[in-house]
Amino acid sequence: MSREIADHLKYYTEIGVDGVSRDPKWRARGVNPPEGGHHMSETDLTSSPMVSGTPVVSGVSRIDADTLDLIKSDIGPDCRRCKLCTLGRSQIVFGVGHPKARLMFVGEAPGEEEDKRGEPFVGRAGQLLTKIIEAIGLTRDQVYIANVIKCRPPGNRNPEPDEVAQCEPFLFRQIDVIQPRVIVPLGKFASQSLLKTMDPITRLRGRQFDYRGAALIPTFHPAYLLRNPSAKREVWEDMKKVRAILQSEI
Ligand code: URA
Repeated sequence: MSREIADHLKYYTEIGVDGVSRDPKWRARGVNPPEGGHHMSETDLTSSPMVSGTPVVSGVSRIDADTLDLIKSDIGPDCRRCKLCTLGRSQIVFGVGHPKARLMFVGEAPGEEEDKRGEPFVGRAGQLLTKIIEAIGLTRDQVYIANVIKCRPPGNRNPEPDEVAQCEPFLFRQIDVIQPRVIVPLGKFASQSLLKTMDPITRLRGRQFDYRGAALIPTFHPAYLLRNPSAKREVWEDMKKVRAILQSEI
């Protein structure tokens, strides 16, 4: 039993959950967490029979009870966990697509157009991503698309480590709820963030990694392809691998 609790604690620490409660006041928190933050207790893990209206039957963990809606409401409509909330972002860009997609794309952070529309990859790079998805016989509705960072960094600068630290636990939860068969991080930033490496994208792409139960296949960012169209050939190689994995398991 204590092993099970230790595993739960480790998982929750990693995904950034700092407690679980049915109290509506607690559920509305997050804007200004109390100093020192919350700490989950053994009671939190074992005593509450409901998570946000979802019955948790004995033997079924809360991890299985997590949902995309719950993650979105945990972030909240006006997240203030990092400084991006003061730097001009207009809304949270959570993610879009099929909640049980077998293929998930992960980008860096919303750009100007995404910030306006509240949806990832809808600008020029996004239109190219849509074509890449269609090239392997799928539609945007059949895959899931999210970013490491949910708010637009000013002037499209790279996200900073404290911003990633605050935001990536939500991406981990999205991945664990969706349970995709294949994850494609787009570009250097997403690939390095997920794999926790500083290896350049040129070393990461062309390889396949095991990641949270999925095959992770890094590829170039569509914005890079707009500047370097000849790299589309490598992306196509990567996408053929993705398609082969998905087709081998229908
Ligand atoms: N680039 C990204 O990495 N993500 C988006 O949502 C848009 C552009």
